[in-house]
Amino acid sequence: MVERGLYPGGGSGSNRAAIATEHAGVAATHTDRSLMTPERPARHGPELAVIVPTLNERANVPLLIERLHRVLAGIAWEAVFVDDDSTDGTAAAVRAIAQVDTRVRCVQRIGRRGLASACIEGVLASSAPFLAIMDADLQHDEALLPVMFAAVRDEAIDVAIASRYVAGGSLGAWGGARARGSDLATRISRLILRADIADPMSGFFLIRRDAFDAAVRNLSGQGFKILLDLLASSPRPLRAREFPYTFRPRQFGESKLDAMVVWEFFMLIADKLIGRAVPVRFVLFALIGGFGVLVNLAVLRAGLLGGLRFAAAEALATLAAMVSNFLLNNQFTYRDRRLHGWRMLRGLAVFCVGCSVGAIANIGIAAEVFGDGSSWWLAGLSGALIGAVWNYAIASTYTWGRAR
Ligand code: GDD
Ligand code: MN
Repeated sequence: MVERGLYPGGGSGSNRAAIATEHAGVAATHTDRSLMTPERPARHGPELAVIVPTLNERANVPLLIERLHRVLAGIAWEAVFVDDDSTDGTAAAVRAIAQVDTRVRCVQRIGRRGLASACIEGVLASSAPFLAIMDADLQHDEALLPVMFAAVRDEAIDVAIASRYVAGGSLGAWGGARARGSDLATRISRLILRADIADPMSGFFLIRRDAFDAAVRNLSGQGFKILLDLLASSPRPLRAREFPYTFRPRQFGESKLDAMVVWEFFMLIADKLIGRAVPVRFVLFALIGGFGVLVNLAVLRAGLLGGLRFAAAEALATLAAMVSNFLLNNQFTYRDRRLHGWRMLRGLAVFCVGCSVGAIANIGIAAEVFGDGSSWWLAGLSGALIGAVWNYAIASTYTWGRAR
C-alpha cells in the first residue's frame, strides 16, 4: 500500500527523497538524503563564519556587516555576533539586520562575560568549516579576510593570523604603555606556546574547524586571548601563517581592556602551566582562604582589644573572614560568573552555610587524625585541606555554579 505523504504535493516518503535529490543537485552527494524534503531543500550552508564578540558595539555593527558584505563577495559567509547582554542595544541592532539579511545571526548570553568564551560559543553555533574571529569595532582590517580564507582553504595551514608584529604590520596609533604591555605579554605567552608565532595575542585570525574541534575541550576559555588559548591547547602544534596588518584606531565605543583583562591573561597562562595538575581556580580559592585566616586573626585581636568577650570576638572574626573570602572569590576566582545584587546576597548566604559545614568537617578530620597519634600539624593540615576541598566543591557547584 502506498502511504500518503504528509506534505502537500510531497507524495510518498521515497518519492519525496527523489524530488529532494533532484532539487538538491550537487549537494545530494554530500548530505544525508533523509534530511531533505521539498519543504526544506538542501542547500549549501556557509563556508566561512565570521564570529564577532560584542559588548556595547551598537554603532559598529552595521558598518562591520557592510564591510563584510563588500570584501566577502563570492564567498558563502555568515556572521555570528555573540553579545554579552550589552546595555546599548547591540543584540537588537544585530537582530534587526538579521531580519533582512539571513547571513547575520545573534547569540545573546545573559549573566556571562568574556571575549574568549563568547568566541568559542559563536564557533559552536555555526556549521561552517572555516571560522574567522574578529572584533566588532573595525580595528581589524577586514580586507585580510579573503586573503586568510584562501590561504587556509587552499594551503596546508590550520590557522591564518592577522599579525601586528610581522614585517608590514603595526600597532597603528597605540600609545607607549599599551605597546610595551602587549610586547611583555607576548614574551610571557611564549611560556605556553609550542610554535614560534610573532603575534599570539592577536584577536583576528581564521582557523579550520577540525583544528578548532581538536582543541575545544582543552580550552581554558578565560579572558581575552582566544588565539593564545587555541595555540596552547591544541593536541598537535598548529600550522600557522601570519599576515601583516595595521591595527586601526577605534571610532565608536571604547576598549574593554582593563586591569581585569590583564589578570585574566595571567590566569590563562597559569591554567596552561599547572591546570592539568591542579585547577587554577582551586589554587586561587585556597590562597584566598589562607588570607581569610589572617582576616580572622586580625578581627579577633581587634575585638578582644575592644573589650568583646572571646566567643563574641571569634564569632565576629569568623563572619568577617567569610564575607571577605566571599567578596574576593566573587571578584577573582569566579569573575566570569560574578554575582550582583540580590544574587550576591543569596550567594553569600550559601557560601557561609557551606563554609560552616566545611569547618565542622575540618575539625572532625583533624581530631580523628590527631587521635590516631599523628603530630598536631599533620592533623591540622589534613583538616584544613579537607575543609578547603569541601568549601571549593560547594562554592563551584552551588554559590557560583547555578545556571542563571
Ligand atoms: N561578548 C563579549 N564579551 N565581547 C567582548 C567582551 C566580553 O566580555 N569584551 C570585549 N568584547 C568585544 C568587544 O566588543 C570588541 O568587539 C572585541 O571584543 C575586542 O574588544 P576591545 O575592548 O575593543 O579590545 P581591544 O581593541 O583593546 O583589543 C583587541 O585587539 C587586540 C589586537 O588584535 C582584542 O581582540 C585583543 O585580544 C587583541 O590582542
Ligand atoms: Mn578594540
